[in-house]
Amino acid sequence: MKEKLQKEYTSVFGAGSEAEENARLFFAPGRVNLIGEHIDYNGGYVLPAALSLGTYALTVPRHDNKVRLYSVNFPDKGVIEFTLDELVYKKEDDWANYPKGVLAVFAEKGYAGETGFDAVFYGNIPNGAGLSSSASIEVVTAFLWNELNEFKADPVTLVQWCQRAENEFIGVNCGIMDQFSIGLGKKDNAILLNCETLEYKYSPLKLGGHVLVIANTNKRRGLADSKYNERRSECEQALAGLQEKHSISALCELDAETFEQDKHLIKDDTVRKRAKHAIYENERTIHAAKLLKEGDLVGFGQLMNESHISLRDDYEVTGKELDSLVEAAWDEETVIGARMTGAGFGGCTVNLVHKDNLKEVLERIGEKYEKATGIQAEFYVAESGEGAHEITD
Ligand code: GLA
Repeated sequence: MKEKLQKEYTSVFGAGSEAEENARLFFAPGRVNLIGEHIDYNGGYVLPAALSLGTYALTVPRHDNKVRLYSVNFPDKGVIEFTLDELVYKKEDDWANYPKGVLAVFAEKGYAGETGFDAVFYGNIPNGAGLSSSASIEVVTAFLWNELNEFKADPVTLVQWCQRAENEFIGVNCGIMDQFSIGLGKKDNAILLNCETLEYKYSPLKLGGHVLVIANTNKRRGLADSKYNERRSECEQALAGLQEKHSISALCELDAETFEQDKHLIKDDTVRKRAKHAIYENERTIHAAKLLKEGDLVGFGQLMNESHISLRDDYEVTGKELDSLVEAAWDEETVIGARMTGAGFGGCTVNLVHKDNLKEVLERIGEKYEKATGIQAEFYVAESGEGAHEITD
């Protein structure tokens, strides 16, 4: 990978030998969330895993305060250039607003950095597919900037700064799940993360004869134009209703039983359904992590299915494509769990599938999906990977 990006670097920036010697390669993965959807911003538990797919950034420090960025994925955007004293959002800077936003948050926190860098980015996560390609760009930037300047910020702080960049600079009110799992993921493990306290535990992915298959609906969506922020504000309304009786600061502090007793405090039917999803999904996630630990994959898969139903009926973030792809998977005997993953409205599903006849099973699912939607799905057997790091060999 380093060689490939060095070549790109030379052709884009026309580098000399100094650049070659000083080039450093950083990586941040994408993530797939196994269960615990739309509850990170409600103070709940999530269970994501880092993927082996991700974003690479070949980085060469500069002696002035310029930053020049190029992405192999967006060659038509060319080199995007700015200085460290003009870290402002610009629509025309497109994808480069993600790294720029991260540098802006570092500066705001008192870690400005005096000299900039040139970088070539390359990502192999499908864009807009709900596998966190944007958070991956943010986190790789945070790790490289931290290293180049020897700021020594710890990884949890770095991922919080990335979330802040997404919230304040990009304008998407996302929770912490994506950045956290991308920064702190560990190969062959999912992370059970308490999004309220940021306490976390690794959950070994002991899948027996099963694999995790990510299926892309190939219906793209961007978070900014999705109803993501609307769902967040509906949850805030629900919380305000419940706070009339409970001194809670997040929906997931309530258990399902208490919610059932007091749900009348939420007057609006739609808002009440949103809260129901959040509270039950949190309990499902805790339960699912326990079943994974005990090796009860069938039970785990059942909870994945329930999660999808709740996201479809109560949270209403699925849509025809995600539902058709999940339903086609449910029809297969060897699929023991299937659900949408990520923000929804398009993007990917995650499926727990036995290895037997995998190819035929996926072909059948793909055919049914295409019949229902006219779109071809894509399937990847998910490989879990390490969290963000520098690649030194
Ligand atoms: C997006 C957000 C996350 C999370 C998920 C839904 O990926 O970035 O913070 O809310 O949606 O679970």
